[in-house]
Amino acid sequence: MKGPRLSSALRTQVCDILGIRYPIIQTGMGWVATPELVAAASNAGAIGFLAAATLAPDAVAAEILKVKQLTDRPFGVNFLMDAPGAEIITDAIIQHRVRAAGYNRAPSRELIERLKQAGVVCVPTCGAIKHAVKAERLGADLIIVQGGEGGGHTGNVPTSLLVPGCVDAVEVPIVAAGGFRDGRGLVAALAFGAQGIAMGTRFLLTRESPVPERTSERYLRAELADVLVTPEIDGLPQRVLRNELIAKLEHAGSATRLLRALRSALQYRRATGAALSELLRSGLAMRRSEGLTRAQMLMAANAPMLARKAMLDGDPVNGYLPSGSVAGMIDDRPGCAELVEAIVNEAEQTLKALTH
Ligand SMILES: Cc1cc2nc3c(=O)[nH]c(=O)nc-3n(C[C@H](O)[C@H](O)[C@H](O)COP(=O)(O)O)c2cc1C
Repeated sequence: MKGPRLSSALRTQVCDILGIRYPIIQTGMGWVATPELVAAASNAGAIGFLAAATLAPDAVAAEILKVKQLTDRPFGVNFLMDAPGAEIITDAIIQHRVRAAGYNRAPSRELIERLKQAGVVCVPTCGAIKHAVKAERLGADLIIVQGGEGGGHTGNVPTSLLVPGCVDAVEVPIVAAGGFRDGRGLVAALAFGAQGIAMGTRFLLTRESPVPERTSERYLRAELADVLVTPEIDGLPQRVLRNELIAKLEHAGSATRLLRALRSALQYRRATGAALSELLRSGLAMRRSEGLTRAQMLMAANAPMLARKAMLDGDPVNGYLPSGSVAGMIDDRPGCAELVEAIVNEAEQTLKALTH
């Protein structure tokens, strides 16, 4: 693959572990990280992660094969280890020799062991130092550490504090996430001791992203102050773009919320083929692991179904728009190759400017 000659600072352990040219990860975003986006990110020299949490488990193998038709470069699959069908997805990852598996909440010791035995690189995402320590103990090969600026479910520790905190607390390489979009950010992450960056929002706003124009326009127009953290979607803090849906939820009574949650649960069941009993079991497990109330448990299906409205149906008014703060600083939609080259070139120039 042609490309700029890398300074040794950009050729990190993460490149070697994942078999990639640049230490840049495109994260698994529900409805957004499709085979087309994943392959484009991997073909650009980064690595894409397919979002499996919003697919029916027995559809994941076919999506993996689609990625393989579009690229011969390494890629990953991101999934929820405590959701119905996690074993089926694990089987598909192993059978099709996917390079890496991504996961976050409620990691399963048993599934991680199976993945590792098959040589799959295990890449959890963590939002707290204690979670990174636990993830390492469970066998992580590298850890994506997402600071509070990051899109979707998020903690409240900023990337600038969380990343060095995790670098000091664990041995495995750390990849920094939450707020990255350019080469200066990549160099800053390296300075904090990370060995690469992972980006969601920046890759959502690329030409190969499937997000319809009506929705991507909202992201492109957003200012920093338009991105906020709310528990209204599924009971857990989520970083999102402010829109009409958020305003409505903030003013809704508990009966309206309950009805909305039930509707989402039924739609989720239709979309993923999960049986009601499985949904209930996974909701109960989530309740235990996250300390959720009953009402929050019912809201869990809201997130994927409301995101689908925005990301698939192109309705940014009634759908929800998970977003990193960085959306407030992005106003273009480049192709993945152009984006990755620009990041690497800017990182090289920044490193040069710092050392001369
Ligand atoms: C639209 C969108 C959807 C997301 N969906 C998921 C998901 O399904 N699973 C997950 O683990 N993380 C999800 N995330 C979080 C991202 O994978 C990533 O960790 C985060 O976006 C990084 O922060 P950044 O947006 O500042 O780059 C999502 C983020 C966005 C913006």
